[in-house]
Amino acid sequence: MSASSAATAQVGDKPEDLTSADFKALSDLVYKVAGLCLSDKKKALISSRLSKRLRKTHLQSLGEYIRFIQEPEGRDELSEAISSLTTNVTSFFRENHHFEFLKRDVFSQWSSGRGPLKIWSAGCSRGAEPYSIAMTAAEFFKTKMPPVKILATDIDGTVLSQAKAGIYDEEEAKSIPPALKRAFMTRSNGPDDDTWQVAPAIRQLVKFNYLNLMDRWPMQGCFDVIFCRNVVIYFDEPTKQKLWGRFHDKIAPGGHMMIGHSERISGPYKDNFIVSGVTTYQKSDGLPVTPAAEEKAQ
Ligand SMILES: C[S@@+](CC[C@H](N)C(=O)[O-])C[C@H]1O[C@@H](n2cnc3c(N)ncnc32)[C@H](O)[C@@H]1O
Repeated sequence: MSASSAATAQVGDKPEDLTSADFKALSDLVYKVAGLCLSDKKKALISSRLSKRLRKTHLQSLGEYIRFIQEPEGRDELSEAISSLTTNVTSFFRENHHFEFLKRDVFSQWSSGRGPLKIWSAGCSRGAEPYSIAMTAAEFFKTKMPPVKILATDIDGTVLSQAKAGIYDEEEAKSIPPALKRAFMTRSNGPDDDTWQVAPAIRQLVKFNYLNLMDRWPMQGCFDVIFCRNVVIYFDEPTKQKLWGRFHDKIAPGGHMMIGHSERISGPYKDNFIVSGVTTYQKSDGLPVTPAAEEKAQ
């Protein structure tokens, strides 16, 4: 390229450049498919993440790549693109008050006459959240076969595979309380290997499935507790409001919903929930409420 042409180079000249039109097409697509709102400010990061996919597909430019993922034959690649655009930050016992709430207000209310408690971790990322629920239950009920059934779902196939394997590095495993780590994690044996794996009995308590929250939810019945934490922050207000209604309908009478520290239930379904703890809501609808919810509601 000559000095003069370099000086007049336009966005779109390099394969990894995203023109405004490409960015708009991409934003519209991922919003429609996954509910994700892409910020213009993150254009460089988005371009860098998609460029890795571009190299794998052998297409010539990001513009071509974005046109490809809009076509029916680009459907699998669209899933890969969405995976590369999601934020998967997670950790064990993140926002620990929710696990304390489970013990104090949910597990303590369970009686052997009823079936297992059904818990859904929606947007489970690499599995730290559902495994924290499983370990909390095993600790509370003092058995590796506690009366809980945990469903964990995510839109990102890559994180789901990692979650199923249940292998974490030393740094990630640090946030597991030592007693639970001793009881429910096993250290890998290799000389250079400093990873930890969730014990098989705990892994068996969690069923991982692919689920895009924007799609139809195929699960039958309701959940006693739904965790959907640090997921809706990537959605706009109309999408969040629709989701609150859908979650409400999937919570059993008197059941609970846990959300992330920066999230709030808003919109028309707000009144169908009672605040029962920190970023913890209980389905109200005139049905029985736990002592914690009654206190808060007064
Ligand atoms: C920041 S992580 C939160 C993980 C965990 N809930 C926590 O709080 O530690 C957000 C997760 O939501 C998932 N996600 C984003 N959009 C989604 C959608 N439309 N359907 C299902 N999962 C989605 C992402 O793939 C990601 O793993």
